[in-house]
Amino acid sequence: AAAQPCAADLLAWYDRHRRVLPWRALPGEHPNPYRVWLSEVMLQQTTIAAVRPYYEKFLARFPDVAALAAAPEEAVMSAWAGLGYYSRARNLHACAKAVAATGRFPDTAEGLRKLPGIGAYTAGAIAAIAFDRAEAAVDGNVERVMSRLFAVEAPLPGSRPEIRRLTQALVPAERPGDFAQALMDLGATICTPKRPACALCPWMLPCRARLLGTQETFPRKVRA
Ligand code: ADE
Repeated sequence: AAAQPCAADLLAWYDRHRRVLPWRALPGEHPNPYRVWLSEVMLQQTTIAAVRPYYEKFLARFPDVAALAAAPEEAVMSAWAGLGYYSRARNLHACAKAVAATGRFPDTAEGLRKLPGIGAYTAGAIAAIAFDRAEAAVDGNVERVMSRLFAVEAPLPGSRPEIRRLTQALVPAERPGDFAQALMDLGATICTPKRPACALCPWMLPCRARLLGTQETFPRKVRA
């Protein structure tokens, strides 16, 4: 029988190759929910390279959720200026006020999902990374990884629920936040849209698409 993908192999790869990013806690350190939330909202439609300087500046100006909640709208918008998708900044501010009012971030994906600007992906990411919940965080990069790993023939966007289920089934009870970020790193550095570096992939053996030699044809998409 073909090898089965397992979280442990991805986590072992992550331990050797994890990217050092300003919002990531060091191994053994506790992640800060405010920082994780801020980074995930900034990264929703923006690349890591573009987010980095904004993230640092924003944190210096609004060091915690109470400071952000108390700030005038114009100050938040001006700190966001240049990042684009300004509804994110308005939602961020509204979210900070809601969180400051209750005194803490919800610590489940379901609770996070109810906050302004937090969709399924962001809720899963924060729940896993900041609160150690066994949640999946499925964005476009993770869809590519999973669709290749399981050679998902059904096209996006209809295959989203299936891809979500496949991802969720792999999420480990231990280190779900590292697992979520390992999937992001794998998609960004190994399982790239063009010419994926399969020889370096911790899931090379169980990858169905690689077995078939059709990696680049996934994810399948409905023709426009
Ligand atoms: N993209 C979105 N969230 C990310 C994270 N936590 N690490 C790396 N890339 C990301």
